[in-house]
Amino acid sequence: MPDALRSVLLSEDEIRRRVAELAAQISSDYASVDELLLVGVLRGAFIFLADLSRCLTIPRRVDFVALSTYGGETTTPGEVRLLLDLRTEVRGAHVLVVEDIVDSGRTLALLLRLLRARGPASLKSCVLVRKPARLEVDLSIDYLGFDIPDVWAVGYGLDWADRFRTLPYIAVVEPG
Ligand code: IMP
Ligand code: MG
Repeated sequence: MPDALRSVLLSEDEIRRRVAELAAQISSDYASVDELLLVGVLRGAFIFLADLSRCLTIPRRVDFVALSTYGGETTTPGEVRLLLDLRTEVRGAHVLVVEDIVDSGRTLALLLRLLRARGPASLKSCVLVRKPARLEVDLSIDYLGFDIPDVWAVGYGLDWADRFRTLPYIAVVEPG
């Protein structure tokens, strides 16, 4: 493990098992749907989305949005901007937003509001990790991988100032 990291929070194996469980649940819930539109939130969700989407057994397509948050890299800012929009039509589509992490919940809440306004046939969310102690908004998550404590987590898509994104496990950054 790199020096800047303190401990492993979720091992590669735990993540792989949970992703497979989520994919099985989603495949079953959407079994009667023509096609599922997976919307990954860049950049953090790219690894989770890659693994999750390949475990699904239903017809699906993948698209991305990028959101930017004002403020420092390891603080949770209050304002969110859409930097890159979908190429896919949302109206009438069954949309599942795939996010790496929910901290205050503001980013996901804003994205869901924005997508709902476009008239999807259905709209749900799938989040790998949530920090329940930090939630500031009322946000229901339809598919959740794990709840974690209030720490800065990196790996499996999550970064700390753009570092550690491609670690295969999720670890805690050493403060200071
Ligand atoms: P929000 O507070 O739920 O809106 O989350 C804002 C963003 O902060 C997330 O999408 C992540 O990019 C980032 N973030 C929050 N906590 C962590 C963490 O522990 N590790 C890495 N990124 C985080
Ligand atoms: Mg994110």
